[in-house]
This record gives sequence, C-alpha cells and structure tokens, in this order.
Amino acid sequence: VNHLLGIKYLNKKDIQLIFETADHFKEVINRPIKKVPSLRDITIANLFFENSTRTKLSFELAEKRLSADVINFSSAQSSVKKGETLIDTVNNILSMKVDMVVMRHPNPGAGVFLSKHVNASIVNAGDGAHEHPTQALLDSYSIREKLGGVGGKKVLIVGDILHSRVALSNIFALQLQGAEVMLCGPKTLIPKYVDKIGVKVETNLVKALNWCDVANMLRVQNERMDISYFPSTREYTQQYGVNRELLDSLDKEITIMHPGPINRGVEITSDVADSKQSIILDQVQNGVAVRMAVIYLLASKIKQ
Ligand code: CP
Repeated sequence: VNHLLGIKYLNKKDIQLIFETADHFKEVINRPIKKVPSLRDITIANLFFENSTRTKLSFELAEKRLSADVINFSSAQSSVKKGETLIDTVNNILSMKVDMVVMRHPNPGAGVFLSKHVNASIVNAGDGAHEHPTQALLDSYSIREKLGGVGGKKVLIVGDILHSRVALSNIFALQLQGAEVMLCGPKTLIPKYVDKIGVKVETNLVKALNWCDVANMLRVQNERMDISYFPSTREYTQQYGVNRELLDSLDKEITIMHPGPINRGVEITSDVADSKQSIILDQVQNGVAVRMAVIYLLASKIKQ
C-alpha cells in the first residue's frame, strides 16, 4: 500500500515496523545535526483544508529532517476559495512533480476519495470525525515509551468521542497491539459504533480512571458541537474534567495524555496538564519521529 489513509488498513506488524523506524529517527533528531539525506529525491505537498498547529508543523519538520522538498498549501489562502475542486487542486499541484500528499480535510473519507483519483502517495492528516492515523501512532508510541509496551495496558479515552477522529484511530491502533480500551463520556458523546467494536464504555469518570493505566483526555470539539449533545460546558467539566484533586484520590498514579489543542479548565486543569503525570509534550515530540518513519517507509515504496 502506498498510502496511510487510516489505522484500519494497517496490521500489527506495520505498526511495529513504524515504531522501530521511529526509534531510529528519534535518535537522529536528538543529534546536533538533526537531518538525514534519505529523501533528497522526494517532493511532498502538505495540504491543509482545516486548521492545525501540531500536525502541520510536525509533518513539515519531519519532511525537512528527511531532506525532502516541501511545499505547504492552506485552503484559506488558495484558489479553493474561487471554487476549484479538490481533485483539480491536487492534480495541479502534482503536475509540479510532487510525489506525496499529506492532507487534512474536514470531510470523512476525503483521503480515500483522493487516493482513487490522483497518482500520488496520500497520508491522511485527519479527515473530519473519521481517522487521524499519525496521531494514534504517536499516541501508542508514547505509551510504549512511558510504560514499556502497549499490549495488555488499560487505556481510557475520555470525552467527546462522537466528534473525534483521534478516538477512532486510537481504538484501532490500541486493539491491534493488544491493549484494552475503555471509553468514558456523556452518553450523548459516545457514538453508536462502539457496540460493534469491542470496547468497554463507562459513564462514571471515577470508576473509569480507577480502571486504567493511561487516560487520553480528548478536547471538547465545540466547533462540531450541537447544543443538544450536552447541556453545558460547566456540567461537562464537573462530570468529565480531570483535576489534581480527582487524580490524587485514585488508588494509583495514572499517565495523562491529550492530543491537543487543550481547552484548559474544561477537560483538564493546568495543574494536571503541566504535571509530571502528563506526557502531552512527549506526544508532540514523538510525533516528529513517528511521522518521519511513516513518510520514510512510504517513500521507500515510491522509489522501488
Ligand atoms: N493533535 C492535533 O491534530 O492537533 P492540531 O489540530 O493542532 O494538528
């Protein structure tokens, strides 16, 4: 496969290979000279049709650390605003001898759609509420780094599961690696698909936190929220927010994750997000090595 469209297209061995390759690149980017010449013959276009800080900059940095040529496209400043279609946009960019496209798009399935219509390797950098595969890979990589492995670990995903591509990709990735997954949130933010995919669901946050080794706190996606999903932000925080007092009341010390951006004081307080229990910035740091691995492995297939 010449694309990374979602975790659902990967198997356990693919993830192991990505992690072993990321281990190598993590060592590389900790050297004084953080760059390798591996992809001097590859050109990559980063196409962002939706806002991003971490994913956009992390991909760009990963590509530059591999010595690829990089061009960046943001739909807000582009001819998409004049009515140009996705396929026309991408085919015009590809005609400039581009080999790989990294794309974030608000529509679920946008990457799959594109992969059927253009001749380039596609990496999904988040498609609506569907998948965010590199986020799930960097999340599992960070759990592996912190806890020595992912298999057998109890991973809790808390919050707005309904609108979260991070949740779905994490569920697929964690299950492939033999972790147990529990979802926790208000019933209105738990999607119906969970009945079919073998995850536990718990609406009581204290019980869920006492069960887990790791809690991944999702952002409440106010921009995708309908008022009927949940009564108020204050009520959400009271029932599903983590704070220092709550964590200190648990039987054990758990690891706290968050994909970012954080709504400080809503799903997580600053005294938790910035504490030693949190690996939030490790996740961001690991994202560069993991994305280097993904791009390197896909580019190796282009070169064959
Ligand atoms: N985690 C994540 O995808 O963050 P950005 O939206 O800033 O890329």
